[in-house]
Amino acid sequence: MAGLWLLVLLALAGPIGGTWDSCRGTCGLRPMASDHSSLLPDYDPTDVAYGPSEPSNGTAHGEGGTGVHPGAWPGIVSIQATWANGTWHMCSGSLINPKWVLTVAHCFFGAGNLTGWQVVIGATDLTQPGPETQIRHIQRLLVHQHYVVATGENNIALLELEEPLECSDYIQLGCVPDTNLRVSELRSCYIAGWRTTMDSTLRPRLALQEAKVRLIDVQLCNSSRWYAGAVPPHDLCAGYPRGGIDTCQGDSGGPLVCKDNRADYFWLVGMTSWGRGCAGSKRPGIFTSTQHFHSWILLQMGLLPTVTAAPTSEPTPTSPTEQSPEPQCNSTPVEMPIPMESRNCTGIPFQQQILGQLFNLLLELLRFLKGQKT
Ligand code: ARG
Repeated sequence: MAGLWLLVLLALAGPIGGTWDSCRGTCGLRPMASDHSSLLPDYDPTDVAYGPSEPSNGTAHGEGGTGVHPGAWPGIVSIQATWANGTWHMCSGSLINPKWVLTVAHCFFGAGNLTGWQVVIGATDLTQPGPETQIRHIQRLLVHQHYVVATGENNIALLELEEPLECSDYIQLGCVPDTNLRVSELRSCYIAGWRTTMDSTLRPRLALQEAKVRLIDVQLCNSSRWYAGAVPPHDLCAGYPRGGIDTCQGDSGGPLVCKDNRADYFWLVGMTSWGRGCAGSKRPGIFTSTQHFHSWILLQMGLLPTVTAAPTSEPTPTSPTEQSPEPQCNSTPVEMPIPMESRNCTGIPFQQQILGQLFNLLLELLRFLKGQKT
């Protein structure tokens, strides 16, 4: 009888909760890429077929990578802007909730009004999105209040979508780890991003590419012959000491995922942030660590719980079922979570945030001129 009531309730909730239900409370699944780990062998830097001068499968940049099967990256999002001269892929992101995309802050410098922007999900080839593709406009951009362009610290942003996306075999949520996951112990990690390539008839394509990478100890990454201290404490390094495989321009905000060591799901551990050059030796890619911002993300989405639950190492989507006691976004600890819906975390009006970002942009320009980060 109780089961029947549940069914009736679910049926009633259908039109409202239907979108939510389509993600089924799961995350990190890749229904279209079940045998994923066997598809991408570990990169051997001595194998010239993967080297920067001879990237496999014809990537535009030379940071290696291979073409992706449709649906193999069900959480990756293309963030696009439309101007008079067309619609352009600006950055990538990851779907972490049917209504929220996680990405990096630097994608939105000087972006101003985002009404002409959209997110595209479920597509592998952006020049030929298939029937599985869904497009949404952006309702709200939330940039981390302590993002510092000069150092790349807190390079994280959330996009709230106007309408929730519907999950399918081609569209799935990423799992943001909480502090219980030992990220450095994960062994099978992958990056992805869109590249301009040519098909057999030499027509240009914007095709998704992927590569296997290794997490590199941040201390090594910050050593004098590597990044010499430039990597912020809450970033991750991934790639190979000898280079050859890397993310590059246009990949920003895109996912660094690692397979769980025990089960068949993937953790969204990082987002492509920066690097010096691309694919160089001792110059691996730098990623914003999502784990570090777990509570920030929940807070912005208005999902910080009021109840403290026992720690769990099972992944849960970043959804209202999430339970994790974490500090608040402002430095003074507060008893109750403050959802973004009712109060801006920074207390700074949006226009002022944009002005601050413009200032940061100027700083970044100066840094570019001095030939530092890309
Ligand atoms: N900042 C770049 C972007 O905006 C990402 C660069 C990644 N670079 C690297 N060498 N891994 O797309």
